Amino acid sequence: MSKIHAAITAVHGYVPDYILTNQELETMVDTNDEWITTRTGIKERRILKGEGLGTSDLAVPAVEALLKKRGIGADELDLIIFCTTTPDRVFPATANILADKIGAKNAWGYDLQAACSGFLFGLATGSQFIESGKHKKVLVIGGDKMSSITNYEDRATCIIFGDGCGAVLLEPNDEGNGIIDSILRSDGSGVPYLHQKAGGSVRPATHETVDAREHFAYQEGQAVFKFAVTKMADVAAEVMERNGLVAEDIAWLVPHQANKRIIDATASRTGVTADKVIINIEKYGNTTNGTIPLCLWEWEDKFKKGDNLILAAFGGGFTWGSIYLKWAY
Ligand SMILES: CC(C)(COP(=O)(O)OP(=O)(O)OC[C@H]1O[C@@H](n2cnc3c(N)ncnc32)[C@H](O)[C@@H]1OP(=O)(O)O)[C@@H](O)C(=O)NCCC(=O)NCCS
Repeated sequence: MSKIHAAITAVHGYVPDYILTNQELETMVDTNDEWITTRTGIKERRILKGEGLGTSDLAVPAVEALLKKRGIGADELDLIIFCTTTPDRVFPATANILADKIGAKNAWGYDLQAACSGFLFGLATGSQFIESGKHKKVLVIGGDKMSSITNYEDRATCIIFGDGCGAVLLEPNDEGNGIIDSILRSDGSGVPYLHQKAGGSVRPATHETVDAREHFAYQEGQAVFKFAVTKMADVAAEVMERNGLVAEDIAWLVPHQANKRIIDATASRTGVTADKVIINIEKYGNTTNGTIPLCLWEWEDKFKKGDNLILAAFGGGFTWGSIYLKWAY
């Protein structure tokens, strides 16, 4: 009997309507379109506006469209893994909140936190439930309402982040397609360079932490850049090498969209030519867990059954990783 792989059988995404352009940011902080474009490649990002809306509200339209596309009901889902750094609440899990909103009555679920690498960690984790035969339909969601933890008075971070969400369905595949290999890494010594100072158990919310604007993403950009540019490129090259793949074998490189210069470095290290590198950072900025599934969603029509895809990410933690998968439809 051939090995069962976990294959992506449907993908969909959602970005909110409001477009925050570089020009609008120029009116908020001391920055300019030229600086943002040359340093990051970002032109605009989406923002979820409206009281009482959280990350689960980004996921609902993405998941509902995905289920419709695949022709299944929410009650057929076995497991929901919600990869997010901006959960609706500290508890309970956003996966539970989403399950209730979409009517996934038979699914269990949990949130997965690995910052910008979360979606890859979620894919690798979710695939184990399929490969083991435990589950038949696993939903992996990557989404963040980054605007909820972005300090719009800090020009070094507010230009980077945006809101967005994507979701994929994993199902068993016995044709040799699906998730073939993954390399995932983490290094907690990276905490000082990228974290949220307050709001956790170490430094719970107080008037002081709010006044000091400590409930936002804090980043030492240059240090993060140095790690990201080498780690993401190295791990993508490593997963290719381990599977005997050269650049010509790769149909698509799907990098986390943090910075165009980091994407270019990853492409260059793997040898994959620019026409095969998926980039939409100019429209959405860094949506953290959302970047890779949003890329898959936007390029879905171009993928062919059997295409070799290399996914690669780097994020706070530090976390990083790469996945080799064969597109299944
Ligand atoms: C954040 C980032 C774009 C900043 O670019 P950089 O080239 O490293 O810029 P620096 O932080 O060294 O700042 C250079 C100068 O630009 C200034 N600057 C910072 N943000 C600015 C902005 N939005 N507009 C204009 N000037 C800005 C700085 O104050 C600094 O000025 P100085 O030289 O007078 O001190 C870049 O470091 C980066 O992308 N890092 C990785 C981020 C990332 O990937 N994070 C997520 C990981 S998943």
